[in-house]
Amino acid sequence: MPFPSGFIDEIRTRLRISEVVAPRVKLTRAGREWKACCPFHSEKSPSFTVNDDKGFYHCFGCGAHGDVVGFVMHFDHLAFPEAVEQLATQAGLKVPASNPEDRERYDHEKRLYDVMDMAAQWFRQCLDQPVGDAARQYLEHRGLTREAMERWRLGYAPNDGRVLLKHMRSKGASDAELLELGLARRREESGELFSFFRDRVIFPVDDRRGRVIAFGARLMEGDGPKYINSPDSPIFHKGEGLFGLARSRVASGAGQSMIVVEGYMDVITLAEAGFIGAVAPLGTALTESQITLLWRLCSPDALTVPGPYLCFDGDAAGERAAMRALDRLLPQLQPDRSALITFLPQGEDPDSLIRRRGPDALRAQLSQSLPISEVLWRTTVQRRSLTTPEARAGLRTELMKRIAAIRDNEVRESYRAEMTVRINHLLLPARRKKDSRHTAHSVGHTMTEAHQRPLPSNPQSQRAKQMLAIMLFHPYIFTEIDEDFAMLSMPEPRLDALHTEMINWLSEATAQENAHETLDAEAFASHLMQRGHAEALAELESSLRAHGWGALQRKSLDEAKDLWVSTFEHYQGHTARKMGAV
Ligand code: UTP
Ligand code: MN
Repeated sequence: MPFPSGFIDEIRTRLRISEVVAPRVKLTRAGREWKACCPFHSEKSPSFTVNDDKGFYHCFGCGAHGDVVGFVMHFDHLAFPEAVEQLATQAGLKVPASNPEDRERYDHEKRLYDVMDMAAQWFRQCLDQPVGDAARQYLEHRGLTREAMERWRLGYAPNDGRVLLKHMRSKGASDAELLELGLARRREESGELFSFFRDRVIFPVDDRRGRVIAFGARLMEGDGPKYINSPDSPIFHKGEGLFGLARSRVASGAGQSMIVVEGYMDVITLAEAGFIGAVAPLGTALTESQITLLWRLCSPDALTVPGPYLCFDGDAAGERAAMRALDRLLPQLQPDRSALITFLPQGEDPDSLIRRRGPDALRAQLSQSLPISEVLWRTTVQRRSLTTPEARAGLRTELMKRIAAIRDNEVRESYRAEMTVRINHLLLPARRKKDSRHTAHSVGHTMTEAHQRPLPSNPQSQRAKQMLAIMLFHPYIFTEIDEDFAMLSMPEPRLDALHTEMINWLSEATAQENAHETLDAEAFASHLMQRGHAEALAELESSLRAHGWGALQRKSLDEAKDLWVSTFEHYQGHTARKMGAV
C-alpha cells in the first residue's frame, strides 16, 4: 500500500539504523560508526559499516548500501510495504492507510491474523491437555521433542467439532471470520457451524513475518485424506507461501542453503537437524511465485551457498514430479539463478532418511544433486529411441522445444549450446576413444563427478550395462573371461541384441593371430554403431555416466578385468538368489 509522504521519513527519524541492524548482525563500535562482517556476502574481516548520523549502511566489500528500510527488505527478504510496516511497529507508529478502502482492508486482514493466532494458541493448548494425549504420543513417536513441538507451534484439533468455535466466539471472533478463514464450515441441513479440523494434528503455516496464515492438519489413523489444509483466504494464498518460511529466512545469512521438500514433517525434521533452509509448498507442486520467493531467500552468492535444492523421491513418481518442476523452472531461469535437483533413495523422504540414516546421509544426497540441464537431458533422452536419424532429430526437436520456454535470452542460448554438444556427443560414441579424457566428462565439464549419478534404475540392469560397457572399452579382457561373458543373460531385449553382436565380433577378433591389434576399442564401437546399436550404446552411456564413464575408460586392463569379474559375481549371485526363491 502506498504510504503518505513523510511517513517513511518519520520512521527514519525515530529509529537509529544501528538499533535495527544490531539484533540481526553483531556490530562493534568503530569511531562514529559501527562495523561488522557483511551479512550480504561472505567475508572474514569486517567491511560492513553502519552510520547512525547518515542513517545508512554500506559495505566496502560488496557495495551493499541503503537505509533502514532497505536493510530490512534486504536482510529479512521483505517487500517494501512489509518492511515499512515492520519498522513502523518497532517505532511505535501506526501505519496510516492512504484511503478508506485500503484502511478497511488493512484492518480486516489484521483482524484475520489475530483470529488465526488465537486458533493456533488454542490448538496448541489442546495438545498439552489430556484430550491431546494421542496426538502428543503420535508426534513423539515420529521423533519430535516437546521443544520442537513448541517451536513449530504444533497443536491438536479435538474430535468435537464445537469446542473450537465456542472458544473462538468467546474471544470475540465472528462466524463470518471463522468461515472466511476456513476454520469453520456450515452444515447444510441445520445451518450450524462446525469445525473444519477435527481429530487431527495441527501444523500452523506462517508467513515470512511469522504470522499464522493457515493450517495443515494430519490424520493420525483411520480413513480420510492424510492431510487437509486451510482454503485460500484474504491472508492465505496456497501458491504463494511456503511452509517453514519464517524460520528459513535466516538460512542464507547463516551460510545455509534453501532446501525444498514435499511435506510438513520433512521441513520440521530437516530444520531440527540443522538444515534451517528447509521449506515445502503447501500441498501443491511448486509454483512460479514460490520459485521467485525462493530465489529471493537464497544467498546472492551461489558459489558459497548453492541452491535452492529441490528434493524428489527416487522413484518414478518423484521423477515425474521433477519433470513438472522443471517445466515451471525453465521459463524463470536467469543468469546465476538456478536450482539443484536432488533425488532421494527409493522409498525415502527427507524425514525418513534423516531418522533412519542421520543428517550425513541427507548431506551426501544433496552433494550428489544434479543441475537442471542434466535432469532435462536425462529425462528427455531416457524415453527416446535413437536408432534412426529421424529419431535423433526428434530428440533435438523435443529438447529445443523445452529450452524455448526459457525466457532469458542468455540462459536460453547457453542451454541450446550445451544441448547441441550433448546430442552431437551422444551420436558419436565411436570417437570416444581418441579423446578419451574429454568424452563423457566434456559433456558436462562444469559438473563434478558426484553430479553424474543416473536417475534411479534397477541395480541388476545397471550391472548388466556396466559389464557391457567395460567390455566395450577393454575388449582385450575377453581373452580371459570369454566364457563368462558369453553365458551372460541380459535383462532387456535391446541389451541382449547388443550382447549377441558383441560376442560375435569379439570371438572373431580373438581368433585372429594379431588379436592384440584386432581387439581395438574404437573399431569395436564403430562396428557396433554400424550394426545399428547406437541406441543401446547411448543407453549404456547415459545410465553409466554416473559411475564414471570416463573413469571406466582410463582403467588399466587388470583393473578393468577385476571390476568386470566382481560385477559379474554380484550379477550372478543376484540372479541365482532370485531363481532359488522361485
Ligand atoms: P506425503 O503424502 O508425501 O506425506 O505428502 P508426508 O509429508 O511424508 O507426510 P507424513 O510423513 O506421512 O506425515 C506430502 C505433502 O503433501 C500434502 C501435504 O502438504 C504433505 O505434507 N498433502 C499430502 C496434502 O495436502 N493432502 C494429502 O492428503 C496428502
Ligand atoms: Mn513422510
